[in-house]
Amino acid sequence: MDPIRPEPLADRDPRAGRQDRFTDRLRLEPIGPQHATDLYELYTDPAVAEWYGRWTPAEAAAEAARMGRHWQADGVHKWMAYHRSTGARIGRGGLSRAHVDGRNCLELGWALHGEFWGNGYATEIGRAGLDFAFGELGATEVVSFTETRNHRSRAVMERLDFRYAKDISIGGEAFALYQRSAERLTDGLPSS
Ligand SMILES: CC(C)(COP(=O)(O)OP(=O)(O)OC[C@H]1O[C@@H](n2cnc3c(N)ncnc32)[C@H](O)[C@@H]1OP(=O)(O)O)[C@@H](O)C(=O)NCCC(=O)NCCS
Repeated sequence: MDPIRPEPLADRDPRAGRQDRFTDRLRLEPIGPQHATDLYELYTDPAVAEWYGRWTPAEAAAEAARMGRHWQADGVHKWMAYHRSTGARIGRGGLSRAHVDGRNCLELGWALHGEFWGNGYATEIGRAGLDFAFGELGATEVVSFTETRNHRSRAVMERLDFRYAKDISIGGEAFALYQRSAERLTDGLPSS
């Protein structure tokens, strides 16, 4: 068995991971077709578009639908994050199955509307992802990667206790690959 792709537990409700979950400040909704507009508005926020490129509404709708299919097939993918009190659209993030550096892994990522940078929301989403991976999914490792020059994303990884592994090339661009093992799960992860 791939150590970072655990077999589904026979007695685990396959819908369990697809329910909304809550952190201290955020409601996390598994992304599906109903999030097409919110995803489009996030990806076309100039602060995010600098990293994610140009998106049309149709492309964002296809992406939201794709993520929904992955939730169905894999029991895991990204969440849309909303503020629990105000309902504001904060961003998206969480886990997905990915093939990185020649192997299957659980990857953790985040993207926030620019107006919400600097509040710890990406770190909060990331903690929920680690909790999900190492708790319910029984994973032994989670990876994260970003363009080497994306210092804010690297800082989130470091806050979450990821360790830099190496640089990798994706599409001719240099990315920094980080790894986080279950053994390094420390105190203070909020329950989701
Ligand atoms: C990457 C990205 C999500 C990081 O956002 P961020 O706001 O810097 O990260 P966090 O939400 O964890 O917030 C951390 C900041 O909030 C501060 N903060 C405030 N309250 C905090 C809390 N409770 N917990 C942690 N940090 C907190 C931290 O001190 C830090 O401040 P600093 O930037 O002055 O050092 C954001 O830059 C982004 O969306 N970029 C575009 C998309 C992207 O590049 N995604 C990654 C692709 S791999």
